[in-house]
Amino acid sequence: MALSFLTLDDVDCSGKRVLLRGDLNVPFENGTVGDTTRLKRLTGTIRELRGKKARIIILSHFGRPKKGPEPEFSLKPVAEVLGRILGCAVGFCPHTVGPEAQVAVNRMQPGEVLVLENTRFHEGEEKNDPAFVKQLAVLGDVFVNDAFSVAHRAHASTEGLARGLPCCAGRDMEKELSALAKALDHPERPLMAIVGGSKISTKIDVLKNLTTKVDVLALGGGMANTFLAAQGKKLGRSLVESDMLDTARGIMAHSAKNNCRILLPEDVVVAEKLAAQVPTQTVAVDAIPDNLMALDIGPKSVAAIIKALETMKTAVWNGPLGAFEIHGPLGAFEIPPFEKATLDVARAMAARTKAGKLLSVAGGGDTVAVLNLAKVTEQLSYVSNAGGAFLEWLEGRELPGVEALRRRPEKKAVRP
Ligand code: 3PG
Repeated sequence: MALSFLTLDDVDCSGKRVLLRGDLNVPFENGTVGDTTRLKRLTGTIRELRGKKARIIILSHFGRPKKGPEPEFSLKPVAEVLGRILGCAVGFCPHTVGPEAQVAVNRMQPGEVLVLENTRFHEGEEKNDPAFVKQLAVLGDVFVNDAFSVAHRAHASTEGLARGLPCCAGRDMEKELSALAKALDHPERPLMAIVGGSKISTKIDVLKNLTTKVDVLALGGGMANTFLAAQGKKLGRSLVESDMLDTARGIMAHSAKNNCRILLPEDVVVAEKLAAQVPTQTVAVDAIPDNLMALDIGPKSVAAIIKALETMKTAVWNGPLGAFEIHGPLGAFEIPPFEKATLDVARAMAARTKAGKLLSVAGGGDTVAVLNLAKVTEQLSYVSNAGGAFLEWLEGRELPGVEALRRRPEKKAVRP
Protein backbone atom coordinates (compact mmCIF):
# COMPACT_ATOMS: atom_id res chain seq x y z
CA MET A 1 0.00 0.00 0.00
CA ALA A 2 1.39 3.43 -0.95
CA LEU A 3 2.26 5.50 2.09
CA SER A 4 -0.01 8.48 2.65
CA PHE A 5 2.89 10.78 3.52
CA LEU A 6 6.09 11.88 1.85
CA THR A 7 9.32 10.11 2.76
CA LEU A 8 13.03 10.45 2.01
CA ASP A 9 12.35 8.44 -1.15
CA ASP A 10 10.26 11.33 -2.50
CA VAL A 11 12.58 14.22 -1.86
CA ASP A 12 16.09 14.56 -3.24
CA CYS A 13 18.37 15.57 -0.39
CA SER A 14 21.69 14.93 -2.16
CA GLY A 15 24.10 17.74 -1.48
CA LYS A 16 21.30 19.85 0.04
CA ARG A 17 21.12 21.76 3.31
CA VAL A 18 18.62 19.63 5.22
CA LEU A 19 16.78 21.05 8.22
CA LEU A 20 16.17 17.89 10.24
CA ARG A 21 13.61 18.16 13.08
CA GLY A 22 14.55 15.65 15.73
CA ASP A 23 13.26 15.24 19.26
CA LEU A 24 16.37 15.83 21.39
CA ASN A 25 14.11 16.36 24.39
CA VAL A 26 15.76 13.61 26.42
CA PRO A 27 15.76 13.06 30.20
CA PHE A 28 18.76 14.96 31.51
CA GLU A 29 19.96 14.99 35.10
CA ASN A 30 23.29 15.94 36.70
CA GLY A 31 24.88 16.56 33.34
CA THR A 32 23.96 13.18 31.86
CA VAL A 33 21.37 12.01 29.40
CA GLY A 34 19.26 9.42 31.23
CA ASP A 35 17.85 7.65 28.19
CA THR A 36 19.34 7.90 24.72
CA THR A 37 16.54 6.12 22.81
CA ARG A 38 15.40 9.27 21.02
CA LEU A 39 18.95 10.08 19.94
CA LYS A 40 19.58 6.55 18.69
CA ARG A 41 16.36 6.59 16.69
CA LEU A 42 17.52 9.68 14.83
CA THR A 43 20.77 8.08 13.66
CA GLY A 44 19.23 6.16 10.73
CA THR A 45 18.10 9.34 9.02
CA ILE A 46 21.31 11.19 9.83
CA ARG A 47 23.47 8.39 8.40
CA GLU A 48 21.37 8.19 5.25
CA LEU A 49 21.63 11.95 4.77
CA ARG A 50 25.38 11.89 5.40
CA GLY A 51 25.64 9.20 2.73
CA LYS A 52 23.90 11.63 0.37
CA LYS A 53 26.44 14.33 1.23
CA ALA A 54 23.72 16.54 2.65
CA ARG A 55 24.55 19.16 5.27
CA ILE A 56 22.43 18.11 8.24
CA ILE A 57 21.17 20.96 10.40
CA ILE A 58 19.30 19.59 13.41
CA LEU A 59 16.45 21.49 15.02
CA SER A 60 14.85 20.52 18.31
CA HIS A 61 13.25 21.83 21.45
CA PHE A 62 14.60 20.82 24.88
CA GLY A 63 12.36 21.12 27.93
CA ARG A 64 9.91 23.96 28.33
CA PRO A 65 11.89 27.19 28.76
CA LYS A 66 9.59 30.12 29.42
CA LYS A 67 11.92 33.13 29.50
CA GLY A 68 13.89 32.90 26.29
CA PRO A 69 17.42 31.43 26.47
CA GLU A 70 17.96 29.63 29.80
CA PRO A 71 21.33 27.83 30.15
CA GLU A 72 19.82 24.71 31.70
CA PHE A 73 17.79 24.18 28.52
CA SER A 74 20.74 24.46 26.12
CA LEU A 75 21.08 21.62 23.63
CA LYS A 76 24.89 21.77 23.77
CA PRO A 77 25.40 18.74 26.05
CA VAL A 78 22.82 16.75 24.11
CA ALA A 79 24.64 17.51 20.84
CA GLU A 80 27.81 16.08 22.39
CA VAL A 81 26.04 12.84 23.33
CA LEU A 82 24.55 12.61 19.84
CA GLY A 83 28.06 12.91 18.41
CA ARG A 84 29.28 10.03 20.60
CA ILE A 85 26.35 7.85 19.49
CA LEU A 86 26.91 8.67 15.83
CA GLY A 87 30.66 8.26 16.12
CA CYS A 88 31.29 11.48 14.21
CA ALA A 89 31.76 15.16 14.96
CA VAL A 90 28.51 16.98 15.65
CA GLY A 91 28.83 20.74 15.68
CA PHE A 92 26.79 22.99 17.90
CA CYS A 93 25.69 26.56 17.22
CA PRO A 94 24.56 28.58 20.28
CA HIS A 95 22.02 30.35 18.06
CA THR A 96 18.89 28.97 16.44
CA VAL A 97 18.43 31.61 13.74
CA GLY A 98 20.00 34.88 12.63
CA PRO A 99 23.39 35.85 11.16
CA GLU A 100 25.44 33.64 13.52
CA ALA A 101 23.37 30.58 12.64
CA GLN A 102 23.66 31.48 8.98
CA VAL A 103 27.48 31.71 9.23
CA ALA A 104 27.65 28.33 11.02
CA VAL A 105 25.51 26.72 8.29
CA ASN A 106 27.53 28.34 5.49
CA ARG A 107 30.72 26.85 6.96
CA MET A 108 29.37 23.29 6.86
CA GLN A 109 30.93 20.74 4.52
CA PRO A 110 28.92 18.00 2.80
CA GLY A 111 28.02 15.22 5.27
CA GLU A 112 28.55 17.40 8.34
CA VAL A 113 26.07 17.56 11.20
CA LEU A 114 25.23 20.70 13.16
CA VAL A 115 22.79 21.10 16.06
CA LEU A 116 21.22 24.54 16.41
CA GLU A 117 20.24 25.87 19.85
CA ASN A 118 16.83 25.08 21.42
CA THR A 119 14.02 26.29 19.15
CA ARG A 120 11.92 27.16 22.23
CA PHE A 121 14.35 29.95 23.13
CA HIS A 122 12.30 31.93 20.59
CA GLU A 123 8.68 32.93 21.16
CA GLY A 124 7.95 32.40 17.49
CA GLU A 125 8.48 28.63 17.84
CA GLU A 126 5.40 27.77 19.93
CA LYS A 127 3.37 30.52 18.27
CA ASN A 128 4.25 29.06 14.87
CA ASP A 129 5.00 32.64 13.86
CA PRO A 130 5.51 32.97 10.08
CA ALA A 131 8.40 35.40 10.66
CA PHE A 132 10.24 32.79 12.76
CA VAL A 133 9.42 30.06 10.24
CA LYS A 134 11.04 32.26 7.58
CA GLN A 135 14.15 32.74 9.72
CA LEU A 136 14.48 28.97 10.05
CA ALA A 137 13.63 28.27 6.41
CA VAL A 138 16.48 30.41 5.03
CA LEU A 139 18.93 28.03 6.71
CA GLY A 140 17.90 25.02 4.62
CA ASP A 141 16.73 23.74 1.24
CA VAL A 142 14.66 20.81 2.49
CA PHE A 143 12.76 20.06 5.71
CA VAL A 144 12.83 16.51 7.08
CA ASN A 145 10.70 15.81 10.14
CA ASP A 146 11.81 12.79 12.17
CA ALA A 147 10.13 13.72 15.43
CA PHE A 148 6.79 11.93 15.77
CA SER A 149 6.92 12.52 19.52
CA VAL A 150 6.41 16.24 19.02
CA ALA A 151 4.08 16.02 16.01
CA HIS A 152 1.07 16.93 18.19
CA ARG A 153 2.49 20.46 18.50
CA ALA A 154 1.73 22.92 15.70
CA HIS A 155 5.02 24.75 16.19
CA ALA A 156 7.28 26.53 13.70
CA SER A 157 9.82 23.69 13.57
CA THR A 158 7.22 20.91 13.45
CA GLU A 159 4.48 22.31 11.24
CA GLY A 160 5.32 25.78 9.93
CA LEU A 161 8.50 24.70 8.15
CA ALA A 162 6.64 22.02 6.22
CA ARG A 163 4.70 24.81 4.55
CA GLY A 164 7.84 26.84 3.83
CA LEU A 165 10.11 24.19 2.31
CA PRO A 166 9.92 20.92 0.37
CA CYS A 167 9.36 18.38 3.14
CA CYS A 168 9.11 14.73 4.04
CA ALA A 169 9.20 12.33 6.98
CA GLY A 170 12.54 10.98 8.19
CA ARG A 171 13.06 7.21 8.47
CA ASP A 172 12.06 6.98 12.13
CA MET A 173 8.87 8.99 11.59
CA GLU A 174 8.15 6.78 8.56
CA LYS A 175 8.61 3.61 10.62
CA GLU A 176 6.42 4.96 13.41
CA LEU A 177 3.59 6.14 11.13
CA SER A 178 3.63 2.83 9.25
CA ALA A 179 3.46 0.83 12.50
CA LEU A 180 0.66 2.99 13.91
CA ALA A 181 -1.35 2.72 10.67
CA LYS A 182 -1.08 -1.07 10.80
CA ALA A 183 -2.23 -1.07 14.42
CA LEU A 184 -5.34 1.12 14.28
CA ASP A 185 -6.08 2.37 10.76
CA HIS A 186 -5.82 -0.87 8.77
CA PRO A 187 -5.40 -3.54 11.45
CA GLU A 188 -5.57 -7.25 10.97
CA ARG A 189 -8.44 -8.34 13.19
CA PRO A 190 -9.26 -9.28 15.86
CA LEU A 191 -7.77 -6.18 17.42
CA MET A 192 -7.34 -5.60 21.13
CA ALA A 193 -6.32 -2.58 23.14
CA ILE A 194 -4.95 -2.75 26.67
CA VAL A 195 -5.20 0.49 28.59
CA GLY A 196 -3.98 1.06 32.13
CA GLY A 197 -2.82 3.98 34.20
CA SER A 198 -4.28 5.57 37.23
CA LYS A 199 -7.03 7.84 35.93
CA ILE A 200 -9.86 7.80 33.42
CA SER A 201 -9.92 11.59 33.43
CA THR A 202 -6.67 11.80 31.43
CA LYS A 203 -7.76 9.17 28.91
CA ILE A 204 -11.47 9.75 28.26
CA ASP A 205 -10.95 10.50 24.56
CA VAL A 206 -8.52 7.60 24.20
CA LEU A 207 -11.11 5.20 25.62
CA LYS A 208 -13.96 6.64 23.54
CA ASN A 209 -11.97 6.39 20.32
CA LEU A 210 -10.71 2.88 21.05
CA THR A 211 -14.22 1.55 21.69
CA THR A 212 -15.09 2.51 18.10
CA LYS A 213 -12.04 0.72 16.69
CA VAL A 214 -11.10 -2.36 18.71
CA ASP A 215 -12.82 -5.70 19.25
CA VAL A 216 -11.68 -6.05 22.86
CA LEU A 217 -10.65 -3.33 25.30
CA ALA A 218 -8.89 -4.64 28.42
CA LEU A 219 -8.64 -2.20 31.31
CA GLY A 220 -6.30 -2.25 34.28
CA GLY A 221 -4.58 0.13 36.66
CA GLY A 222 -6.42 2.62 38.85
CA MET A 223 -8.80 3.51 36.03
CA ALA A 224 -10.30 0.00 36.11
CA ASN A 225 -11.35 0.69 39.73
CA THR A 226 -13.55 3.54 38.55
CA PHE A 227 -15.22 1.27 35.98
CA LEU A 228 -15.82 -1.38 38.65
CA ALA A 229 -17.25 1.26 41.00
CA ALA A 230 -19.52 2.43 38.14
CA GLN A 231 -20.89 -1.13 38.04
CA GLY A 232 -21.75 -0.83 41.74
CA LYS A 233 -18.76 -2.73 43.18
CA LYS A 234 -17.33 -1.67 46.55
CA LEU A 235 -13.69 -0.72 46.11
CA GLY A 236 -12.62 -0.24 49.76
CA ARG A 237 -9.91 2.44 49.97
CA SER A 238 -8.85 2.03 46.33
CA LEU A 239 -8.27 5.02 44.06
CA VAL A 240 -11.66 5.75 42.48
CA GLU A 241 -12.54 8.91 40.55
CA SER A 242 -16.01 9.42 41.96
CA ASP A 243 -16.72 12.27 39.55
CA MET A 244 -16.04 9.94 36.60
CA LEU A 245 -18.62 7.23 37.32
CA ASP A 246 -21.08 8.55 34.72
CA THR A 247 -18.25 8.92 32.22
CA ALA A 248 -17.27 5.29 32.84
CA ARG A 249 -20.90 4.19 32.33
CA GLY A 250 -21.04 6.26 29.14
CA ILE A 251 -17.89 4.57 27.81
CA MET A 252 -19.31 1.13 28.62
CA ALA A 253 -22.57 1.98 26.79
CA HIS A 254 -20.60 3.37 23.85
CA SER A 255 -18.52 0.21 23.63
CA ALA A 256 -21.60 -2.05 23.70
CA LYS A 257 -23.05 -0.04 20.80
CA ASN A 258 -19.81 -0.48 18.86
CA ASN A 259 -19.51 -4.23 19.54
CA CYS A 260 -16.39 -3.70 21.59
CA ARG A 261 -16.05 -6.10 24.52
CA ILE A 262 -14.67 -4.42 27.64
CA LEU A 263 -12.56 -6.73 29.74
CA LEU A 264 -12.50 -5.58 33.37
CA PRO A 265 -10.47 -7.23 36.15
CA GLU A 266 -12.11 -10.18 37.94
CA ASP A 267 -9.66 -10.12 40.81
CA VAL A 268 -7.21 -7.67 42.32
CA VAL A 269 -4.18 -7.60 44.61
CA VAL A 270 -5.02 -5.52 47.67
CA ALA A 271 -2.94 -4.06 50.50
CA GLU A 272 -3.26 -1.54 53.29
CA LYS A 273 -1.04 0.98 51.51
CA LEU A 274 1.10 1.52 48.45
CA ALA A 275 4.57 0.54 49.64
CA ALA A 276 7.13 -2.03 48.59
CA GLN A 277 6.76 -5.51 50.09
CA VAL A 278 3.63 -4.73 52.15
CA PRO A 279 1.51 -7.81 52.97
CA THR A 280 -1.01 -8.42 50.17
CA GLN A 281 -4.05 -10.56 49.44
CA THR A 282 -5.69 -11.47 46.16
CA VAL A 283 -9.47 -11.08 46.25
CA ALA A 284 -12.38 -11.11 43.80
CA VAL A 285 -13.47 -7.64 42.70
CA ASP A 286 -16.74 -8.01 44.62
CA ALA A 287 -14.96 -8.92 47.85
CA ILE A 288 -12.53 -6.05 48.40
CA PRO A 289 -12.23 -5.41 52.16
CA ASP A 290 -13.29 -1.89 53.28
CA ASN A 291 -9.87 -1.10 54.77
CA LEU A 292 -7.73 -2.21 51.79
CA MET A 293 -6.94 -0.83 48.36
CA ALA A 294 -6.53 -2.49 44.95
CA LEU A 295 -2.98 -1.94 43.67
CA ASP A 296 -2.66 -4.48 40.86
CA ILE A 297 -4.93 -6.71 38.86
CA GLY A 298 -4.93 -10.33 40.03
CA PRO A 299 -3.82 -13.61 38.37
CA LYS A 300 -7.30 -14.48 37.01
CA SER A 301 -7.52 -11.07 35.34
CA VAL A 302 -4.04 -11.51 33.88
CA ALA A 303 -4.98 -14.95 32.58
CA ALA A 304 -8.11 -13.48 30.95
CA ILE A 305 -6.05 -10.81 29.15
CA ILE A 306 -3.45 -13.34 28.00
CA LYS A 307 -6.22 -15.71 26.82
CA ALA A 308 -7.80 -12.89 24.83
CA LEU A 309 -4.38 -11.94 23.40
CA GLU A 310 -4.00 -15.51 22.13
CA THR A 311 -6.91 -15.01 19.75
CA MET A 312 -5.80 -11.56 18.55
CA LYS A 313 -3.88 -10.60 15.42
CA THR A 314 -3.14 -7.03 16.57
CA ALA A 315 -2.74 -5.39 19.98
CA VAL A 316 -2.16 -1.84 21.13
CA TRP A 317 -1.04 -1.04 24.69
CA ASN A 318 -0.86 2.09 26.79
CA GLY A 319 -0.45 2.38 30.54
CA PRO A 320 0.62 0.04 33.35
CA LEU A 321 -1.90 -2.40 34.86
CA GLY A 322 -0.71 -2.00 38.45
CA ALA A 323 0.90 0.65 40.65
CA PHE A 324 4.30 1.95 39.54
CA GLU A 325 6.31 4.92 40.59
CA ILE A 326 6.93 6.97 37.47
CA HIS A 327 9.75 9.54 37.37
CA GLY A 328 9.99 11.83 34.37
CA PRO A 329 9.11 10.80 30.85
CA LEU A 330 11.09 7.60 30.64
CA GLY A 331 11.86 6.36 34.16
CA ALA A 332 9.69 3.87 36.07
CA PHE A 333 10.32 2.04 39.30
CA GLU A 334 8.43 -1.04 40.24
CA ILE A 335 6.87 -1.22 43.67
CA PRO A 336 7.06 -4.93 44.37
CA PRO A 337 4.86 -6.89 44.05
CA PHE A 338 2.42 -4.58 42.21
CA GLU A 339 4.32 -4.74 38.91
CA LYS A 340 3.54 -8.43 38.43
CA ALA A 341 0.47 -8.20 36.17
CA THR A 342 2.05 -5.60 33.88
CA LEU A 343 5.23 -7.62 33.47
CA ASP A 344 3.32 -10.90 32.91
CA VAL A 345 1.14 -9.34 30.20
CA ALA A 346 4.15 -7.61 28.61
CA ARG A 347 6.04 -10.90 28.42
CA ALA A 348 3.03 -12.73 26.98
CA MET A 349 2.61 -10.04 24.34
CA ALA A 350 6.30 -10.21 23.49
CA ALA A 351 6.22 -14.02 23.20
CA ARG A 352 3.27 -13.98 20.77
CA THR A 353 4.90 -11.25 18.74
CA LYS A 354 8.14 -13.19 18.60
CA ALA A 355 6.21 -16.25 17.45
CA GLY A 356 4.90 -14.18 14.52
CA LYS A 357 1.30 -14.41 15.69
CA LEU A 358 0.69 -10.85 16.81
CA LEU A 359 1.44 -7.34 15.64
CA SER A 360 1.99 -5.39 18.84
CA VAL A 361 2.34 -1.65 19.26
CA ALA A 362 2.85 0.06 22.61
CA GLY A 363 3.58 3.63 23.58
CA GLY A 364 3.24 6.51 25.97
CA GLY A 365 5.94 7.66 28.42
CA ASP A 366 4.93 5.41 31.33
CA THR A 367 4.40 2.42 29.07
CA VAL A 368 7.88 2.60 27.54
CA ALA A 369 9.43 2.83 30.99
CA VAL A 370 7.48 -0.18 32.16
CA LEU A 371 8.30 -2.21 29.03
CA ASN A 372 11.96 -1.41 29.58
CA LEU A 373 11.64 -2.90 33.07
CA ALA A 374 10.08 -6.03 31.57
CA LYS A 375 13.00 -6.09 29.07
CA VAL A 376 10.60 -6.65 26.17
CA THR A 377 10.92 -3.33 24.34
CA GLU A 378 12.90 -4.92 21.51
CA GLN A 379 10.50 -7.83 21.19
CA LEU A 380 7.27 -5.98 20.44
CA SER A 381 6.54 -5.02 16.82
CA TYR A 382 6.85 -1.33 17.61
CA VAL A 383 7.31 0.71 20.76
CA SER A 384 6.70 4.41 20.39
CA ASN A 385 8.75 6.66 22.64
CA ALA A 386 6.23 9.45 22.21
CA GLY A 387 4.19 10.56 25.22
CA GLY A 388 1.55 13.19 24.39
CA ALA A 389 1.72 12.52 20.65
CA PHE A 390 1.02 8.80 21.15
CA LEU A 391 -1.98 9.59 23.35
CA GLU A 392 -3.37 12.09 20.83
CA TRP A 393 -2.94 9.46 18.12
CA LEU A 394 -4.86 6.98 20.32
CA GLU A 395 -7.56 9.65 20.65
CA GLY A 396 -7.88 9.60 16.87
CA ARG A 397 -6.79 13.23 16.54
CA GLU A 398 -4.96 14.68 13.60
CA LEU A 399 -1.37 15.52 14.49
CA PRO A 400 -0.33 18.81 12.84
CA GLY A 401 3.27 17.67 12.32
CA VAL A 402 2.05 14.56 10.50
CA GLU A 403 -0.72 16.26 8.53
CA ALA A 404 1.86 18.67 7.11
CA LEU A 405 3.72 15.71 5.56
CA ARG A 406 0.67 14.21 3.85
CA ARG A 407 0.90 13.33 0.21
CA ARG A 408 -1.73 15.42 -1.57
CA PRO A 409 -2.30 16.34 -5.20
CA GLU A 410 -1.17 19.92 -4.58
CA LYS A 411 1.77 18.73 -2.47
CA LYS A 412 3.42 16.33 -4.90
CA ALA A 413 6.89 14.97 -4.39
CA VAL A 414 9.19 17.92 -4.70
CA ARG A 415 12.59 17.52 -6.24
CA PRO A 416 14.39 20.75 -5.63
C1 3PG B 1 7.80 14.85 24.69
O1 3PG B 1 8.76 14.65 25.46
O2 3PG B 1 6.68 14.31 24.86
C2 3PG B 1 8.02 15.71 23.49
O3 3PG B 1 9.36 16.07 23.35
C3 3PG B 1 7.13 16.92 23.52
O4 3PG B 1 7.48 17.76 24.57
P1 3PG B 1 6.43 18.87 25.09
O5 3PG B 1 5.32 18.14 25.78
O6 3PG B 1 7.21 19.77 25.97
O7 3PG B 1 5.89 19.58 23.86
